[in-house]
Order: sequence, then C-alpha cells, then structure tokens
Amino acid sequence: MDRLYDKLMEYSKSEDYPMHMPGHKRNTELCKPMNPYSFDITEIKGFDNLHQPEEILLNLSERISRLYGANCSYPLVNGSTAGILAGISAAVHPGDKVLVARNCHKSVYHGVILLDLKPVYCYPQNIEQFALHGGILPEEIEESLITHSDIKLVVITSPTYEGVVSDISEIAKVAHKYGAYLLVDEAHGAHFGFHKGFPQSAVRLGADLIIQSLHKTLPSLTQTAVLHCNAGELNARIRKYLAIYQSSSPSYVLMAGIDQCIQLLEERAEDLFERYHNRLMKFYQEMGELKYLRLLCKDRIGQDRIYDLDPSKLTISVQGTGMNGHELHQLLQQDYHIMLEMDAVDYVLAMTSIGDTEEGFERLKEALRSIDQKIEDRIVAKAGQITDAELAPMAQRKKEPHRIMPPRIDRWPSEAWDEPVKSVDFEDSTGEVSAAFLSLFPPGAPLLIPGEVISQELIDYILQAKEQGITVTGLTGEAMNKIEVIA
Ligand SMILES: Cc1ncc(COP(=O)(O)O)c(C=O)c1O
Repeated sequence: MDRLYDKLMEYSKSEDYPMHMPGHKRNTELCKPMNPYSFDITEIKGFDNLHQPEEILLNLSERISRLYGANCSYPLVNGSTAGILAGISAAVHPGDKVLVARNCHKSVYHGVILLDLKPVYCYPQNIEQFALHGGILPEEIEESLITHSDIKLVVITSPTYEGVVSDISEIAKVAHKYGAYLLVDEAHGAHFGFHKGFPQSAVRLGADLIIQSLHKTLPSLTQTAVLHCNAGELNARIRKYLAIYQSSSPSYVLMAGIDQCIQLLEERAEDLFERYHNRLMKFYQEMGELKYLRLLCKDRIGQDRIYDLDPSKLTISVQGTGMNGHELHQLLQQDYHIMLEMDAVDYVLAMTSIGDTEEGFERLKEALRSIDQKIEDRIVAKAGQITDAELAPMAQRKKEPHRIMPPRIDRWPSEAWDEPVKSVDFEDSTGEVSAAFLSLFPPGAPLLIPGEVISQELIDYILQAKEQGITVTGLTGEAMNKIEVIA
C-alpha cells in the first residue's frame, strides 16, 4: 500500500516542474532548508503566544504591518480561510445583511452560514474567450448599497484566482459612503505592491480588512497567511475570533515559515521582483507569437470589467485549438513534466512566483511553442477534413452558460444548511433546492450554494465539465452522480 510520506519523498525527487502553488516552488536556494522536527515546539517560555502576542510574535506582526503598510496585521497558520472567517465575524453581527461577490471562495459562504447572514449578491462579468470571471464594478456595488441601506459589509475577491483585479480604491470609497466595511479576499495577491509592474495591494487602497495567503504567491509554507486590519475599532473582535478559528496549538514551523518569507521580502524584495517581472514580460512577449494558444494579457484591461490584471498568473486559452484545457494539461505533464495549477474546459492556469527559476520559465515556453506547432500541423494535415465546428471557439461549440449566473434563491444559505436533506440524481435535480456546495475544483468558488434552486443550465454545464475530466466537488454517491437537496 502507498504511504503518503514515501510518495511525497519520491515526488520531491521527480523532474516535474511546479507551475502551481505553493509559491516557494520547492526552491531551496531561495528558502532556507529546514528540518521541521528540530524546532517544532509549542508555547514554551521565551517563544510568545500567537493568541496573545507580546514579544517575538508581536514583533513579527509589526514587521508584517510595516512591510505591507497596514494598520495592524495578524499572521495566520490556518490559511486565508481562518482570516476570512475572522474578518467577516469581526465586521458584522449575526443576522446582518452583507453584499457578497458571487464568485467568492467557499470560506466566505461558510462565514455567511455560521453567522446566519443575509447575503445580497453582485455578479462578475464573463470573459468569453476564457469563460472565466471579470471584475466587479464600483457602480454595481453602489446600486446594491442604495437598494439595501442596511448592508454592513462588502466582500469581494480581488485578484481572482486567474488574476483579475477590481477597482478597490473606488469600491472602498463607495462602501464607506454607505457606512459598510470592505473586506477584500486578496488570497492570491500577497505579492502585490512590491513592484510597479504588479497591481497595488488593497491594504494601501482603502480596504478595511484584507486577507492574503502567503503560501499561494510567495515563498512560504502551505497554510501560512495574513489578515491585515485598517479599521482600528475591529482589532479586539478580530483577536477574539482568530482564537476561535485558529488552532490553539499554532505550528511554530509554519510561523517560522512566515518569518522567513517576511525577512526575504524585507531584504530582497526589490531585486527579486525586478528579476521576476523581467522574466514575466519576456514570457508574455515571446508567447504572443503563438498562433493558437492565447494568453490572457494586459490588452484586456478595460474590457469585461477588468480593472487590472496580475501578470503572475499565466492564463492560457485553448479555444480554437480543438483541445480542451484538461488535454493541454495532460500533454504538458506527460511530455514535458510541467504540472499546472489547474485546467478548466476553455483554459489552463500556470502560477508563477519569485520562487520560479529561469529554467522553469524556459521549459514552459519551449513546451507551449512545441504544442502550438503540433496544433498547427494537425490543422494543416487535416485541411478540409476538420470541420469549422471543431475549430470554433469552445463557447460556440457547446452550450456555455456564464459560469455563475444569478440563480433563483429559495432560502438563506444558513436556513438551507440546517434543513433535513434527501439525495437525488443530479441529472434529474432541476427545480430542487440545493443543500450542497457544488464547485469545479480548483479553486473552490461554488457554482451552487445551499438554498439556491438547481437549474437545467447548471446541470448541463457541470455534466459537461465532468465529461471533459474537470474535477467537480460536492456531488455524492459511488458514481458521484447524486446531490443532496432539501427534503
Ligand atoms: C480566492 C480564495 N480565497 C481564499 C482561499 C482560501 O485560502 P487558504 O487555502 O489559504 O485557506 C482560496 C483558496 O484557494 C482562494 O482561492
């Protein structure tokens, strides 16, 4: 039987290049190697206490605040998940109304359920060529805040998983004008603000609560994250809730990882980000020459509600290539030993960071050039035989609904969460009220949440994604063809 430890050891020696999280990219030249057993301690004398920091951990928090320009910062060992739960809990009271961008991560909905919140949603636009979400407009947020004057908190994700950034400065102004706090899930933006070629962090743009996963885009261990708070009056509540959502035995190994990451940025951010940005710009320039595979890049800014784009995310469209994202990922894995962060029907996503090497970038470029050529060879060889339909953008070939459409909402998520449930065939579940979260994974922004009515369009989309090899989470049963709905 496979053992996890052995499997990981074996994998660590493999040739596979990680174009995925965590952002340290297993680069031991950048991150000091450490043997976790040698300093895995608990709160012994002289090592402070994360839940009541007074010495070395308070100093770590203050260094993080200085580095990011926050009023107060909290290192986290339970990921952004804990920061999002604590941030929401601190900013509202049970039963309050909140405005939520419907493409938020599931931890936001978990907060909504735990606190019995009443969510009002705003929806991002769809970017057709990639079938992924654009940004959220300040004007739409303002409309909702005018309609619902009792909204206490606005929660948005910026950047999105694919690097789409919204206009945080304007959104913060609008939220504050109507008396609401702004929480920005910046889980994918811990690297923002260190170089002018990357977007500015929401920490410096007027947001009240900002949560960043260090492990996603910076050289830091998985689960490490930070919660920044610019609204001083919320600090006492944040501490109270962090003590609930975080372990009472926080790992010193993870905290040492945070310390290492912060020290690296304090000492070498300028140089590391300059080199990294140059590599990225070269990558975009050279890959602009591909004929079939297309990169999401800066020329999209201003369209599809894209206020800005994070260049670190390499989002590659496969539309018009005759293959889906899953197939491209398989090719990259099998023939070029490159592991991507994710594949969707219409695109794949490679994640980069200051932890990447020149060799890593070159390998990806070579692989994409060669696959693009193969696509061309196939098209030329089959000239006259390949149908226009086969080459047409995916969005035209199949029924492609917007990935998250305004659904019919039957009851609040917290009500649906506690109702008795029954299991039905997903295929036949049109009109039922979901008791489940359904997502294409990663990243885990749910397409369906408890309390929403299941539509035929959503069923078609999910089944199609499943057929194409995309992982669907939230279905049950041996054949993963059932869904829990309100009985
Ligand atoms: C947008 C977004 N927010 C929050 C999270 C949760 O972050 P963590 O894994 O650090 O808990 C994720 C994880 O994928 C995410 O994609």
